[in-house]
Amino acid sequence: MVSKETIKTWTEAGVGVIQLDRPKVLNALNRKMVTEILETMEAWDRDDDVAVMIVTGGPRVFAAGADIDEMAEDDAISLELLNQFAEWDRLAWVKKPIIAAVNGYCLGGAFELALSCDLIVAAENAQFGFPEINLGVMPGAGGTVRLTKLMGRAKALEWLWTGDYMTAEFAKANGVVNRTVAPELVFEEAMKLAQKIAKQAPLSVRMIKEAVNKSVDHSVYEAMQFERKNFYMLFASEDQKEGMRAFVEKRKPQFKGK
Ligand code: CAA
Repeated sequence: MVSKETIKTWTEAGVGVIQLDRPKVLNALNRKMVTEILETMEAWDRDDDVAVMIVTGGPRVFAAGADIDEMAEDDAISLELLNQFAEWDRLAWVKKPIIAAVNGYCLGGAFELALSCDLIVAAENAQFGFPEINLGVMPGAGGTVRLTKLMGRAKALEWLWTGDYMTAEFAKANGVVNRTVAPELVFEEAMKLAQKIAKQAPLSVRMIKEAVNKSVDHSVYEAMQFERKNFYMLFASEDQKEGMRAFVEKRKPQFKGK
């Protein structure tokens, strides 16, 4: 395990784990934490020993949002010059799957972090919300955009305007969360899912993520052109030959990510 200033990281069985580690402030995301998360993910994206990543806050709380103490004295110009939220765009460029394992509060910037991941496994008693409105601000790292795409305009507006917390069950019913489990099983469930994906053909996993992301932001026609190119491209891989040969020979394929 590696302990950085704001996160702990380790790898096990092809899965890289980032644990947010500022327990005294409910894992509030300060600038250092965002940088450390991104640097770790980008390094693992280039590391053949990591196939899937998990972000967790541990068993008590995912995180209570961006660090309010750090932001309290900011002004518009300093924020524009620092442009810190642009860093979050880098998260969307990570090619490997990222799973958020959420216990407890997942609020504000932390909800935006979870929504930037690909899948969310949540505790039955987890709580999701955007309380920024209570601070006289609004989400600034994708919250209004990603929540609206997932649950539609009217529902998103209600949660963003009231600042209320939604239950994990509601989040699951509205396409925000993939799975809900008992609080003590969240990490285990996320790890099971991660290891299942980690065993799949790595290039297929990567091309599927790219194609699904395209479908969110582009027309059906454009996204289908992109999907088709990725499908054709996979026929340049050794894994396609191996996967299809193994099927014909009635054996398990040995994928190499090449
Ligand atoms: N930033 C900085 N510190 C925070 C924090 C945050 N987002 N959330 C909690 N803390 C700190 C508290 O100040 C407290 O510190 P002290 O012990 O030094 O007083 C400690 O964490 C424990 O918090 P509480 O005593 O408040 O714990 P609680 O269980 O009574 O309440 C809570 C939990 C309801 C989550 C409450 O802490 C809370 O409302 N936190 C703020 C939530 C919030 O507004 N998040 C949005 C932030 S803005 C944002 O995220 C912008 C964006 O889009 C990027």
